[in-house]
Amino acid sequence: MSVLMKLVILVPCCFFLVGLIKFLYDYLWTPLRIQHVMNSQGIKGPPYRFIHGNNDQVTRMKKEASTKPMSLTRHEIFPTVQPHIYSWLNTYGKNYLSWNGVQAELVISEPELVKEVLKNSEKAFPKPKPTLLGSKLLGKGLVMVEAENWVKQRKLANFAFHGESLKNMIPAVVASVETMLKRWKGQEGKEMDVYQEFRLLTAEVISRTAFGSSYLEGEKIFTMLNKLSTIVIRNIFTTRIPFISKLWKTADLVESEELHKGIQDCVMEIIKKREDKVASGEADGFGNDFLGLLVDAYHDLDEKKRLSLEDLVGECKTFYLAGQETVNSLLGWTVLLLSIHEDWQEKARREVFEMFGNQNPHPEGIARLKTMTMIMNETLKIVALNIALHNDPQLWGDDVHLFKPERFAEGIAKATNHNAAAFFPFGLGARSCVGMTFATTEAKIALSMILQRYTMTLSPAYVHKPVLLIGLKPQHGIQDHLHRLQQGAIQNHHQRDLHQLHNPASKKVECVAFSEVDVLKFLLVGQLHLVVQGLPHWPLHVFPHDHPLQHCFQCHDWIG
Ligand code: HEM
Ligand SMILES: *[C@@H]1O[C@H](CO)[C@@H](O)[C@H](O)[C@H]1NC(C)=O
Repeated sequence: MSVLMKLVILVPCCFFLVGLIKFLYDYLWTPLRIQHVMNSQGIKGPPYRFIHGNNDQVTRMKKEASTKPMSLTRHEIFPTVQPHIYSWLNTYGKNYLSWNGVQAELVISEPELVKEVLKNSEKAFPKPKPTLLGSKLLGKGLVMVEAENWVKQRKLANFAFHGESLKNMIPAVVASVETMLKRWKGQEGKEMDVYQEFRLLTAEVISRTAFGSSYLEGEKIFTMLNKLSTIVIRNIFTTRIPFISKLWKTADLVESEELHKGIQDCVMEIIKKREDKVASGEADGFGNDFLGLLVDAYHDLDEKKRLSLEDLVGECKTFYLAGQETVNSLLGWTVLLLSIHEDWQEKARREVFEMFGNQNPHPEGIARLKTMTMIMNETLKIVALNIALHNDPQLWGDDVHLFKPERFAEGIAKATNHNAAAFFPFGLGARSCVGMTFATTEAKIALSMILQRYTMTLSPAYVHKPVLLIGLKPQHGIQDHLHRLQQGAIQNHHQRDLHQLHNPASKKVECVAFSEVDVLKFLLVGQLHLVVQGLPHWPLHVFPHDHPLQHCFQCHDWIG
């Protein structure tokens, strides 16, 4: 054999050998070494399997669990939506090691440890690198970025979604809810998928408040983001086969690239509209909403403050997605739970009437809705992503799986057996949710306005099947019946109060003074007639907030 021939055979052989060694090193030696070191420190877990890690097991367990029927009153969501974590926690302890393909994952669920990590998310425990598909979904948006880019973007988002800016959004939220309520006219008593209704509402709200546009303008973006997130989630436990995944793109990858491009174009179009308005002199700034702030930063002359185009587009995508999906779920599940638990629906309604009467929600009242906050927290306890912590009887007690908002009556520490770090549906520390106040404000407004008008019951057609996507979603929607709140219903509602007052067994009262809210209640049921000179019969505006108008029930006189 000539030297040349030998070379022709030898060189590829060498390449192959080196490749093989590297492959075995990455896919066998490294994982086994990590596993050994962890094991020797007492951290156990399901053993690594060549290339696939535990992904095949996860897929099989999820498939099996998904066929199990679920109870509507005992919320044992954990074994069904995260069967692998549930089973491994039980087998290996609260902190264990598992394998997403060749990637080692240390799962921790001990509250103190979780708190430690999240509080340190800036330095010691940065966010994991997004997967290829994950980065298509959120790009260089706030959820993904690090270091100075994060500081820049977080500052803008903090400003846009808190304080005065948030307060200024309230009328737009109320208007969006009104649009939804208009749509419901004529649907009373009929079956309605409220989850779908809240999808439209939340899309409308984030479009209006953050992007100064209507839902229609954002509709294409929402649809594409929705498809893209479904693809991303479908692929979380898909193993990427080495070499092959580099040569051949899966159908999901191809589609996600198209969606990514489509979303980018739509977002650019909305941005361009703003720029055009300024260029043509139609507007003298990019606007006061979140988009305006972003476009402003994109044009900043100071390079340190400037946002890149990639950041700008990523940020828009992030807020379209995070601003809609999350609140959609929260509202949907809360209405579902209130439809089942009529006692809490009643308590919530009572509070809403006490706070707002028949008026639209206002900022001071929204901040003071305690019962509703307890209900929303209890709902988040059931459906937020911190599933392992939120289902631990050691933290919450034996009634952990029941819907019991009263557990929050005296704060989180009391509810969690003094492990306040066990409840953080919005994350903890520097990287916690920037939209928390926005989300809860929006949900409270929508719930208040619904409770003021409707009683809710669950339709027999509803099939309980929460599935884990970006949050927990009802796979088949939420079919509910909304019944117009009858005058009589309100009457019953307050009759008890009146009864107690008139009941001679109750303490004999000389003169019972009512706060403005109580007056309103009796006005509502028609048992108190208010005649104020020169004003219509429904003079809600004669009750200024700083001037508690009071009425003496016995002498029928107004005080104050
Ligand atoms: C019920 C509603 C919501 C829940 C349960 C929720 C939950 C969370 C959680 C747990 C995190 C932390 C994620 C992590 O540590 O990796 C987070 C971050 C974030 N959320 Fe929310 N969220 C909600 C609503 C919203 C809304 C309405 C918006 C936008 C208007 C939003 C925007 C964001 C952003 C941008 C981040 C990343 C913050 C950062 O890394 O600095 N969220 N959210
Ligand atoms: C509800 O949860 C939030 C944290 O997500 C907390 O700040 C608030 O105090 C809780 N409120 C009640 C009444 O439990």
